[in-house]
Amino acid sequence: MERADAISARALDDAPFLDRFDPAVEADPEPVYADLRRRTAVARTPIGVAVIRRQEVHQLLGDPRLISSLPHLVRAQGVTEGNLHDMLASSVIAIDGPEHTRVRRLVSRSFTPRAADRHRPAMRALVDELVDGFAERGRCEFVADFADHYPVQVICEVLGVPREDHDDFARWGDALTYALSLELGAHRAEVEAASEALGAYVDHLVADRRANPRDDLVTSLVQAAEDGDRLSNLELFSMIGGLLFAGYDTTRNQLGQALVAFCRHPDQWARLAAEPASVPRAVDEVMRLVGAVRAVPRVALEDLEVGGWLIPSGTLVMLSLASSNRDEAVFDDPLDFDITAEREAHLTFGGGPHYCLGASLARAEMEEALTTLPRRLPDLRLDGEPTWRLNTGISGPTTLPLAFDVA
Ligand code: HEM
Repeated sequence: MERADAISARALDDAPFLDRFDPAVEADPEPVYADLRRRTAVARTPIGVAVIRRQEVHQLLGDPRLISSLPHLVRAQGVTEGNLHDMLASSVIAIDGPEHTRVRRLVSRSFTPRAADRHRPAMRALVDELVDGFAERGRCEFVADFADHYPVQVICEVLGVPREDHDDFARWGDALTYALSLELGAHRAEVEAASEALGAYVDHLVADRRANPRDDLVTSLVQAAEDGDRLSNLELFSMIGGLLFAGYDTTRNQLGQALVAFCRHPDQWARLAAEPASVPRAVDEVMRLVGAVRAVPRVALEDLEVGGWLIPSGTLVMLSLASSNRDEAVFDDPLDFDITAEREAHLTFGGGPHYCLGASLARAEMEEALTTLPRRLPDLRLDGEPTWRLNTGISGPTTLPLAFDVA
């Protein structure tokens, strides 16, 4: 991937076309992507380009000539000022370069695997409590009964938000899921109201932890300092809001995706129950094959050459994590679901400077769920067809009826 002017790359007009908004492609994307991957690393799309091979996606995730497209997408949908705009525009996922490095340096100590592991007992208790609510029925609607609650409760627990306020966080989190999507414009009033309410709550929380430090994430973010530098109040709000919109919807969809995959491969579910040591690798295999975050959007700051194609400055570039994770050049039998397979690392947590800040927490969360659920929900099976969320960067079931044997 050299500078465009140093080589003669082909013009994008000749690149294969991927109609990523075509309902037929949405319904069954794999054959379309597999065919494209054989022919090209880059495809044109109705809104820019998609990079679909793992090698190029991996490299571009760390390339400073591509920056976050979030501020642009937010403005393009009419959100140009106010609390929501400020929160999104200064969130860690939307900033780049030295500004981004500074914020990541200040907060990284709060997101280590050790910091995440401290919350495992609480995660285990939450999983059991939610399963207790439906275990005797022998069936559940997994999204409403489990996935809508567990990830947001974990984030609240980690932040130090008291139990009685978890439902408020879940409501704000539901509205904020539109913040990262192309549906922000259509849901603007609802998202702005949630952002206002969250902002007021976070102000109060931050002031309280400044006065009365506790052993929680809000306190460590408030205290985070390096060489006399600290996060401002707006940065604290953006970070806490960002944890909610980046950490809630992703994990709830990833859990739903996981359970659908296991229903389709009951042998792997039985194996998970029999061999809890296989859980960490199972989490990676789920995230590789059915990752909830399918692509991350960027904007090219200058002309780039990728896989022989010239991508002009200003192009919206979707880095397709889902396609990369099934790239047959890297993964043997990429469509097989095998929780014991030793594989190259998947890209569902992204890569480079924006690599998922909550990856250790998400892993711990998924591992705790996939340790307890196979034990408590034996012989898991679909109890009807799931319904799916389509056409967004984050994908997963919106309803997932399940049946299981009562233990
Ligand atoms: C299975 C669940 C999750 C998946 C699949 C996931 C995936 C991702 C991906 C792909 C990115 C990179 C976005 C980009 O490059 O533009 C990202 C960033 C991020 N994630 Fe996650 N995530 C998950 C869970 C979480 C959790 C639980 C948290 C925190 C509570 C979290 C917080 C963040 C934050 C703050 C960023 C922005 C980091 C930055 O821009 O420097 N994520 N995540």
